[in-house]
Amino acid sequence: MRITPSILNADFAHLADEVARISDADAIHVDVMDYRFVPNLSIGLPVVESLRKATTQMLDIHLMIDEPDRWAPAYAEAGAESVTFHVEAAKAPIRLARELRAKGARASMALKPATPIEQFEDMLDELDMILLMTVEPGFGGQRFLDLVLPKIRRTRELLGDRPIWLQVDGGVSAETIERCAEAGADTFVAGSAVYNSDDPNKMVRDLRELAVA
Ligand code: DX5
Ligand code: ZN
Repeated sequence: MRITPSILNADFAHLADEVARISDADAIHVDVMDYRFVPNLSIGLPVVESLRKATTQMLDIHLMIDEPDRWAPAYAEAGAESVTFHVEAAKAPIRLARELRAKGARASMALKPATPIEQFEDMLDELDMILLMTVEPGFGGQRFLDLVLPKIRRTRELLGDRPIWLQVDGGVSAETIERCAEAGADTFVAGSAVYNSDDPNKMVRDLRELAVA
């Protein structure tokens, strides 16, 4: 069970300090938004390059952007260990996944809540992680969508014994993480739950305990 907190709710003026507050995390989840794929703007490649120098933690980049075929490989080149693109935006997801792996990153594909998993069964071996959105992408602090739970279950079944991580993102908290784990998720993004707490590192450990239980 991996906890990968999102820094979207962190203080962007003190990012290095904010990342240091979650040293017990399994990876730092970085949400990149472009005002096009989602109606919000966050941070991009220059900040990821700076983060790379500021921490040895695994960087888990979540690209909520149009044209990931064009922009995603640069995040692998910047030293991110994992790069996630949205299949709704990708023109050639298999080619892109292969390119990410060739550049040394884990290749990961994200699905919005209404995107079915079944049509991607044949390309699972191209991937190191599937990210299932449990809110509509774009903003932190939204309410967890229970309607995604059956898709988490189906995805877990489709993955079989492949060593592919199954990440959930959106509204994950102490209240909802057990449902996600029970459905088959093994990697959990939590943004507001971690950064709105007084002790982010303790919240990371608490969430991991709940997920394992
Ligand atoms: C939402 C982002 C998430 C978000 C999670 O579009 O992809 O990573 O920051 O934040 P919470 O945990 O508050 O839903
Ligand atoms: Zn995210």
